[in-house]
Amino acid sequence: MRRGLKPLVFAACLLPLAWLAGRFWLDDLGVNPVETVNRFLGDWSLRFLLLALAVTPLRRLAGWPALARLRRMLGLFAFFHVCLHLASYVGLDLFFDWQALWRDVVKRRYITLGMLCFLLLVPLAATSTDAMIRRLGGRRWRALHRLVYPAGLLAVAHFWMMVKADIREPLAYALVLAGLLGWRAVRAAGTARQRMSLHSADIGS
Ligand code: HEM
Repeated sequence: MRRGLKPLVFAACLLPLAWLAGRFWLDDLGVNPVETVNRFLGDWSLRFLLLALAVTPLRRLAGWPALARLRRMLGLFAFFHVCLHLASYVGLDLFFDWQALWRDVVKRRYITLGMLCFLLLVPLAATSTDAMIRRLGGRRWRALHRLVYPAGLLAVAHFWMMVKADIREPLAYALVLAGLLGWRAVRAAGTARQRMSLHSADIGS
C-alpha cells in the first residue's frame, strides 16, 4: 500500500485537468470558456497549495509518516496549476499583451497579490529537488520553504479581493488556511516552551 500511495495520489492529482479536458472536448465550458478555464485553474492552484500545507498536520495527527512523501508532489502540482492559471490569463485573456499584464499587476490589487504569490512559489519549486536540498543544507532549505506560509495568505487574499459580494468560498479557504497555520503556530509555541523549561532546568542543576 505504502509503495502504491505515491502513484495513486499522482494519478488522482491529474483528475481535475482530465475533467477540464473532458469539458473542453464536449464543448461544455459555459458561456465564457476563458473565464471558466482560468477560474478552474485558480481554484485548483489554491486547493493543491492547501493540500500540500495539510500534509504535515495530517501526518502528525494521524501518525502516518508515509504521508510526508506526498508533500513535494502536492506542492509541485500547486505550482504547475498556478503556471497554467497564469498562462491561461496571459494567453487566453490578454492575448500575450505583456503591457496589459503589467498594467493589471500595478492597478488591480488582487492581480498584484496573485503575482506576488506566484513569485514566492518560484524559488520553492526551483529548490524542490533532493540535489537542491543538499546544496542549500537542511536549515537554509527549511527557512526558504517557510515562504509557503505567506504564499498561502497571498493566495487566499487574491481570491478574497476579487469576489464582489458572496465571500463564502474565499472564507472557507481562509478558515482552512487559518487552521493549518494555527496548528503550526501552536506547535511552535509548545516546542519553544519545552526548550525554555529544559534550558531553565539546565541552569538550575
Ligand atoms: C500569477 C499571477 C496571477 C494572476 C495574473 C491571476 C489572475 C487571476 C484572474 C484574472 C482570476 C479571475 C478573476 C475573475 O474572473 O474575475 C483569478 C482567479 C483566481 N485565482 Fe489567480 N492569478 C494569479 C495567481 C494565483 C495564485 C498564485 C493562486 C493560488 C495559489 C490563484 C488562485 C486563484 C483563485 C482561487 C481564483 C478564483 C477562482 C474562482 O473564481 O473560483 N491565482 N486569478
